[in-house]
Amino acid sequence: MIRLGIIIGSTRPGRKAEAVARWVYEIAQRRGDAEYEVVDIQDFNLPLLDEPMPPSLGQYRQPHTLAWAEKIASFDAFVFVTPEYNHGTSGALKNAIDFLYREWNNKAAGFVGYGGAGGVRAVESLRLVMGELQVADVRAQVMLSLFTDFENFTVFKPGPHQEAAVNAMLDQVLAWGGALKTLREQAALSS
Ligand SMILES: Cc1cc2nc3c(=O)[nH]c(=O)nc-3n(C[C@H](O)[C@H](O)[C@H](O)COP(=O)(O)O)c2cc1C
Repeated sequence: MIRLGIIIGSTRPGRKAEAVARWVYEIAQRRGDAEYEVVDIQDFNLPLLDEPMPPSLGQYRQPHTLAWAEKIASFDAFVFVTPEYNHGTSGALKNAIDFLYREWNNKAAGFVGYGGAGGVRAVESLRLVMGELQVADVRAQVMLSLFTDFENFTVFKPGPHQEAAVNAMLDQVLAWGGALKTLREQAALSS
């Protein structure tokens, strides 16, 4: 069964990301078609990137990097739950992504963005990053509006249509995550 990590992309006190990620997890769990897990980057206490060697070499030295690498390596696919900060993703999420390389390769990803314009600019910026990490990012995405999916711009109350958007995105992520299995196996054999 495919293992899919739902990554909480904000570490800000009072963040909305956690409620959004838990909502995605509940919808995903009801499907029963994969092993889903919420991954909170906050739990890994990652400082700003402090590895001396480029992550693509895989020569990690810091205990926090090794713990983060072990967690990310355990998944076949991801859903990134991302806020929009200055038309990009959060620094915390970008930093967490930058720590690793091979652990992301040949896997699939989908996005749940939120912001004044559905987080679309943050997701577009992440799509560029995914290309370099050899992650297949899917077309379907969830766009949550601070105006209509959060009461008073604060309490998460997603519109009724958003659950279908999550399922459409998950359908594609699981399909691509499965399709790339052979590549992951070949890469594991040659490393
Ligand atoms: C530094 C910063 C920059 C922001 N820039 C944008 C932005 O460019 N576009 C947008 O739609 N919302 C922007 N916002 C609003 C965030 O989308 C909103 O605060 C959201 O709740 C942040 O996610 P979080 O609560 O999970 O950290 C920004 C918020 C912060 C803190």
